[in-house]
Amino acid sequence: MKLEPVKKIAGRIAVPGDKSISHRVALIAGLAMGNSEISNFSTALDCGSTLSCLEQLGVRINRSEEKVRISGSAGLKPSPAPLDCGNSGSTMRILSGVLAAEDFISVLTGDESLRSRPMGRIIKPLSEMGATIKSTDGKAPIEICGNSSPKAITYELPVASAQVKSAILFAALKARGTTRVIEKVKSRDHTERLFNGFGVNVKSDDDLSVTLDGPARFTGGSMTVPGDISSAAYFVAAAALLPGSNLLIHNVGLNKTRAEYLSVLTSWGFQISTNGQRDERNEPVGDVRIIGGVERGVTSAARNLKGASIPSLIDELPLLAVVGSQIDGGVEIRDAAELRHKESDRLACTAENLREMGVEVTEHNDGITVAGPVRLRGARLNSFGDHRIAMAFSVAALIADGPSEISGADCVDISFPEFFTLLRSVISA
Ligand code: S3P
Repeated sequence: MKLEPVKKIAGRIAVPGDKSISHRVALIAGLAMGNSEISNFSTALDCGSTLSCLEQLGVRINRSEEKVRISGSAGLKPSPAPLDCGNSGSTMRILSGVLAAEDFISVLTGDESLRSRPMGRIIKPLSEMGATIKSTDGKAPIEICGNSSPKAITYELPVASAQVKSAILFAALKARGTTRVIEKVKSRDHTERLFNGFGVNVKSDDDLSVTLDGPARFTGGSMTVPGDISSAAYFVAAAALLPGSNLLIHNVGLNKTRAEYLSVLTSWGFQISTNGQRDERNEPVGDVRIIGGVERGVTSAARNLKGASIPSLIDELPLLAVVGSQIDGGVEIRDAAELRHKESDRLACTAENLREMGVEVTEHNDGITVAGPVRLRGARLNSFGDHRIAMAFSVAALIADGPSEISGADCVDISFPEFFTLLRSVISA
């Protein structure tokens, strides 16, 4: 993909439905009593993987442009063929929670990237709950021999992961008794909110501990999925970095465990406002306006991203490294070793591309230090097959001093197939 620098961007847009919410609501609808109708379902290939796996498990799904209709299941059926989760960690990890509580054997696999990612983190708690799980060195393919009367457990997550928390909560739906998940640092809470929205009570003892009393079952219903803030994030950054830009993004999910990115950019002096906030099945939604250019300077504390905010920023960190290269003093990101286990090693890939564009970068085991402000040079960049790297560096290419080329940029389809079309639509001469 060839990208030229641009002067500014402007317009009113909406982004497709949130990927994390779409995975969860599809699984909820597949297990619910009654039928569900989901509007603005994510167009991401990843969410397509979740729907296909559900179909393989006997769930009836009707997909049209406007809606995904899911018939509440009379119970899942075993799939004779392995379930292909594609590139999607959320599909593999959260669906494993569902299948750990089914009385049959399932095999889950995925593409090369997914087969290299750690699955021991779900195998441990789901085995404690009574499933028998085989894998090679804690990686996919994994074979799950489920147990339809799982044990209620108390589990403290060793790494902050909403996918692991969600896997345990889905398995807990069939457990008799109270399952408790304790986090050291709070991760995104869509599962908790949507369980409550579809009739299964998940209680928060405090911000870091949730409980579910099983057995419990969802009631189907309708939902309009909020726009994906992690997709909107690239447009927010592009507009913020290009003075003279004025962009309005409608119907963006503003869940606190995801919207930290907007607070960081505001603390860096960018002009971002939200309004019209409302709720959709317990998920906050609103409109985001971005005016291009920096309003005021950055304090040095704001240039350090670390600790408890990291899980809420996890998917936006490569992009924040790009934006950080444009602010006074640059940015330091720490406590983010998890980035090495995403669709690519996002610390190494971000560092490599930034260096290609002329930025001084120091890589740490758990983070990255990026110098700034730097005038980016147009360069040959690599997506490394990772959608978030491709989109973060598309934004970088827009503010560079000459043309850039990103190899393998079609991987944006994994989360945001409309990305380049929508980007072209807001570029003004
Ligand atoms: C996700 C959780 C995060 C995130 C991923 C989606 C989810 O992963 O990086 O893109 O939908 O729960 P972890 O749970 O592994 O941190």
